[in-house]
Amino acid sequence: MRTVLVTGSAGFIGFHLSQLLLQDGFRVIGFDGMTDYYDVRLKERRHQILLQNEHFSCKTGMLEDHDALHALCMEHKPDVIVHLAAQAGVRYSLENPRAYINSNIVGTFNVMECARELGVDHLLMASTSSAYGANTEMPFIETQKADTQLTIYAATKKANENMAHSYAHLWDLPTTMFRFFTVYGPWGRPDMALFKFTKGITDGTPIDIYNHGDMYRDFTYVTDLARGIRMLIDTLQCARKARRISPRVTLSARSRRIVWSISAIRPRCACSTSSRPSRRNSARKQSGTIWICSRATFRPPGPMRPC
Ligand SMILES: NC(=O)c1ccc[n+]([C@@H]2O[C@H](COP(=O)([O-])OP(=O)(O)OC[C@H]3O[C@@H](n4cnc5c(N)ncnc54)[C@H](O)[C@@H]3O)[C@@H](O)[C@H]2O)c1
Repeated sequence: MRTVLVTGSAGFIGFHLSQLLLQDGFRVIGFDGMTDYYDVRLKERRHQILLQNEHFSCKTGMLEDHDALHALCMEHKPDVIVHLAAQAGVRYSLENPRAYINSNIVGTFNVMECARELGVDHLLMASTSSAYGANTEMPFIETQKADTQLTIYAATKKANENMAHSYAHLWDLPTTMFRFFTVYGPWGRPDMALFKFTKGITDGTPIDIYNHGDMYRDFTYVTDLARGIRMLIDTLQCARKARRISPRVTLSARSRRIVWSISAIRPRCACSTSSRPSRRNSARKQSGTIWICSRATFRPPGPMRPC
């Protein structure tokens, strides 16, 4: 039975990926700091669900604690590491940039060091569509230069991409970085738009609509994303035999204007206490926000079959 270390296993994407890997017969070791960026009870509940499977175990710890992470790696010797733990969120990086440096730069370096020491078959790590920053050519594609990040969050993720490239080169470490486009689905993050809109509608509180609603995003359904990561775990094993390191992969689905999203939620909200239309605050674009974030198709780097 192959073993995968999933960092951020109590997080939104880590939870879904861990579920899928367990279904597919992997042993999954979770590692998560259970940070209070959003309600920790949601993270605990996700871990409780995963722990119902005998092939899942987890440890609470921060990525910055190299000794804790290293001990876990040496104990379980994972074949593959999927690194999803991070201080996420574009807007919070304006308030607390230090959290991003600690988790995303120092933390990711510690993960890469463990991967190098273990000589894992494959290291897969999360980046973000925010890495495209001030690029204006649409739709975004992986071959574009991405050197103009607009937030510290995006800058730390782009730094991770560069760090990963150097480790892949120096240590022959098969590595794939993903640039995720706004992920949605069950057990999602309460800080993200769809959940904030839903809460505003059910509570009858105003919903902030940045850039006066003139914002477009690609959304990716979380199960599609988890399935894509799952398939790429094996895809690169083939590539490694050919001593080729995969390019970065962008996973994406479809664009939606933000105000349409609110309208789409509303008719389905049976729990709403109010029959009135949701109250909307038309607000300026926040600094650092990309007003259009679009990737039309998903193009895997190679065959999307287990090999
Ligand atoms: N959800 C999206 O739309 C989206 C878009 C682009 C990129 N991403 C990236 O995907 C990854 C997963 O995102 P998510 O939506 O599941 O976020 P999430 O916040 O739900 O999950 C991240 C998990 O990492 C843990 N964590 C944070 N800092 C840590 C640290 N220093 N040490 C240990 N654990 C720590 C948190 O407790 C959390 O459970 C992140 O790297 C994020 O930047 C997500």
